Amino acid sequence: MLFESYLNYDIEAALFLTLLWGTSAVLVARRPHHRSDRRGRRRATFMLVLVALGWLLVAGRLVTTALMGSFGYLFVADRVAVALPLVVLPALAVLVLAVPRWRAHRRNPSAETRLATFAPQAVVPFQATALGALTGFVTAIMVTMGPPQLVPILTVYVSFLTVLVGLWLWQQYRYRVAANGGPVRRSRPVRALRAVAVVAVVGLVLVGGLSWAANETVLPGRMNMTDHAHGGVSAAGAHGHSTGRTVSVADLTGPRSETPDRRFTLVAEATKLRLASGREVDAWLFNGQSPGPELRVKRGELIEVTVHNKVPDTNVSVHWHGVDVPNAEDGVAGVTQDAIKPGGTHVYRFRPDEVGTHWYHSHQQSSVQVKKGLFGPLIIEPEQSDLAPGTQDLIVSTHTWYSGELPLEPPAIGTVDQLDRRRMAPGTPVRLRLINTDGATHRYSLTGTPFRVVAIDGNPVNQPTDVAGEQVVIGGGGRYDLEFTMPAQPVRLTELRRFGSELRVVDGGLLLSADGTGDVQPDKPTEAFDPTTYGSPMPTPFGRDSTFTKTHSLVFDNELWFYDGRFTVVWASNGMAFPKAPSLTVREGDLVKVRFANRSHFDHPMHLHGHHVLVLSRNGKPATGSPLWLDTVNVEVGEIWEVAFKADNPGLWMDHCHNLDHAAAGMMSHVVYEGVTTPYEVGHDTPNELE
Ligand code: C2O
Ligand code: CU
Repeated sequence: MLFESYLNYDIEAALFLTLLWGTSAVLVARRPHHRSDRRGRRRATFMLVLVALGWLLVAGRLVTTALMGSFGYLFVADRVAVALPLVVLPALAVLVLAVPRWRAHRRNPSAETRLATFAPQAVVPFQATALGALTGFVTAIMVTMGPPQLVPILTVYVSFLTVLVGLWLWQQYRYRVAANGGPVRRSRPVRALRAVAVVAVVGLVLVGGLSWAANETVLPGRMNMTDHAHGGVSAAGAHGHSTGRTVSVADLTGPRSETPDRRFTLVAEATKLRLASGREVDAWLFNGQSPGPELRVKRGELIEVTVHNKVPDTNVSVHWHGVDVPNAEDGVAGVTQDAIKPGGTHVYRFRPDEVGTHWYHSHQQSSVQVKKGLFGPLIIEPEQSDLAPGTQDLIVSTHTWYSGELPLEPPAIGTVDQLDRRRMAPGTPVRLRLINTDGATHRYSLTGTPFRVVAIDGNPVNQPTDVAGEQVVIGGGGRYDLEFTMPAQPVRLTELRRFGSELRVVDGGLLLSADGTGDVQPDKPTEAFDPTTYGSPMPTPFGRDSTFTKTHSLVFDNELWFYDGRFTVVWASNGMAFPKAPSLTVREGDLVKVRFANRSHFDHPMHLHGHHVLVLSRNGKPATGSPLWLDTVNVEVGEIWEVAFKADNPGLWMDHCHNLDHAAAGMMSHVVYEGVTTPYEVGHDTPNELE
């Protein structure tokens, strides 16, 4: 919250800096006409006031940068390298070179002192400050920069200096003309013509530049993720020579010949879904139900899922979210398989080596298909059940259906978009498996009983303790398992939504009571449950003190810029959107540290396929609780998370924001193992569309 205000101030400061110094630069470059002493003096005073105001804004941006930096240096490293020097240095030049001349002119408002303020050394510093301020604004909100990298920084500085040289020469010429008896005042038509020409040229350059920039972002009709990764930010060279052995994604399958222990069939179809409130939505569902059928298996079993696609005119796929399957079973259309065409079938086979609450969903155009309902729960139980005898095991899969009927549609549990009342006998052990299938973060409040968080993203928590008076925050794609013993009085699970600084109870939720009636006033805890300090530590295969073979830092921004040729909100990682967003090349055995810093206006639940990441620290504070293994790291606004993973599952793995709209607008990249290639392609000219 606080960070977001600072970020907004920073962007506003950058905008006002640009406007104010832009105005000064225009005024200071006007040809000197000496009219009267009084007017000369007034003009000098006015310019000096503008400089003072301009410096106030410079100081303001220094303060906003410092405030943002107090949340982590990563948030401001680019500003320190580019935006600040480009404003502070020229503004200093204004103080040193221009201000004395304007003061002299104010003291003695003669034609000579006025001419002195027209010299290049007095004019260009203003123009440079304005240009620097503009650069600072553009890099804050349009074309952002991540952690400083040499090439982009040099590009900015070289272009900046080039423009300055041009401005200097131009001003030198104008100064000479003015010094040699002043400009010849051209006739009205000539001046008008010149003005038109200037406007036309500036307009053409702007339009041309912008359409070039828009075109730059048009996604190619076909892309191969292997090529793209090799063109991207690759750390492959760090390993010395490569073995030259390559393997195709298509060969990295699960067990193909053994007899499966469990067989499931999922049929994707288009249907009308009627919600409990009576609202009706056009949905795409697995086996006609929502959530899709519960796939409940045991760890170590060989699972076979046959997927049929009956959705007209639409290709689908299925991804096993949170399960580290072999790469060919990962279900990413265009990367690990071709999407399943209407009438087509695909068979997935894998043997899960983990437990917990997971889910499956389409990974073809997921920002559309998951929203429309192509998802379901996947529960992997340990060999010996981890549930106390008699436990009521409830899947609470939260999803927002967009019928277009309500301005703010309440999230539904399954298909119940109202309060879901259920009977629960007091004394019953209850497990709630919360699954957030939406993109936005959900905040839950459980009223009427303390509870334990027994698993996060499916991974059991070591020695969970009682929680009360805290909201449970789950990012898009994330899962939390809560347990409690049903008390005599009713228990209510509700969602809270932030409106500015206010927390409001969202309609709906789950009400458990002995006879299914009664109600509870939902608590609105403001404190959030912190998974990094919960439970007890346990040995992990690696940790903060390990030596990492790779470190990858990602700063997230939202930009107002072009994506796929359209002007929109772009979700950028280090200033880049897919397919230019930085991929990470690894070699099997690498121990990788990844740092996420969220400098945008929205949460980003970052999801890495095929691996679990261990949380090392959150906002600079080391994780001290139960080892926190996640597949979806919800990086809230203004947060910095440090996580680590072992590269132990060769393949091409997506690494993207699970707010799937963000992924579709740029926030996705890949972790690519050296030597792994894919025969599949993605893009408008292929059957495959990533998000
Ligand atoms: Cu749950 Cu790449 O997704
Ligand atoms: Cu996001």
